Amino acid sequence: MIVDWFEEWKRYRESSHWTQKLKQKGITSEQFWDSYKMADRNEEYDRLAGYPGLILDRMARFAGPDSSVLDIGAGSGAYTIPLAKAARKVTVVEPSKGQVARLMRLADREGLENIEVINKRWQDVDRSELESYSLVNAAYCFHMPDIRPALQKMLDVTTGALFLVALVDHGFADVYEGVFGEKEPEPEYIYLYNVLHQMGYPANVEVMVRRYQIPLEMQMEILRSSYDFTPELEEKLMDRLAATGRLVKRENGVWVKRTYKDGMIWYQKD
Ligand SMILES: C[S@@+](CC[C@H](N)C(=O)[O-])C[C@H]1O[C@@H](n2cnc3c(N)ncnc32)[C@H](O)[C@@H]1O
Repeated sequence: MIVDWFEEWKRYRESSHWTQKLKQKGITSEQFWDSYKMADRNEEYDRLAGYPGLILDRMARFAGPDSSVLDIGAGSGAYTIPLAKAARKVTVVEPSKGQVARLMRLADREGLENIEVINKRWQDVDRSELESYSLVNAAYCFHMPDIRPALQKMLDVTTGALFLVALVDHGFADVYEGVFGEKEPEPEYIYLYNVLHQMGYPANVEVMVRRYQIPLEMQMEILRSSYDFTPELEEKLMDRLAATGRLVKRENGVWVKRTYKDGMIWYQKD
């Protein structure tokens, strides 16, 4: 049986927790990111979580001093800021005005003046607005129901390498299922890899494992941005974290042990 991965992707995205949550709240992805409460702590979270870490090292050879880079769904700039320090120029495609404002605050703080912003969804960007880039990066930003033209446009503007970063495992599946009753679907990277393959681009894939700890209050803030907590749910969560050995007492409070796996899919043009 031949699986049509483009159709599988549409079904997968439509039924995903993320799409369903936006529908329930009656908001767009841009509105979610505009008002994402944790966003101002993103930099601190990424530092503790070692993100993007090794993924950036893998991108480095495509982002030399003469290079031009495209960062799609840049958010508050986890990739943009370090890439702008290394490359000649970084073009960002980011539809959320709130995220762009956060990103530009960080760019100002670092004295970076080589970042250009296209404030649109990737699927709405016309080819004529783009140049060619030695590195194209799209990480955790695949709110793109029609994935084939989205990936094709990325490949069309890539002269060096296209990197797609997507979830393999957030290590909290048992928590989401046991506490919030949410069953995890298959991870996103498998779909993206197969879609690319079906388009005729057999890519490389590497799974990056990050083991880290974050303060319990930060973990709670992250969960509260997606779930409405009752005292019972909070108790259930704490029981689950304790029973699975995830709570660590440190001199500055209680921390949560996490293991996260990012899928790094990359395709190098000849
Ligand atoms: C989880 S953040 C990821 C930020 C950054 N790429 C990273 O890995 O840290 C997701 C970002 O993708 C953006 N995004 C979502 N759908 C998008 C689309 N269709 N086109 C461009 N950006 C998109 C959101 O606005 C948000 O800022």
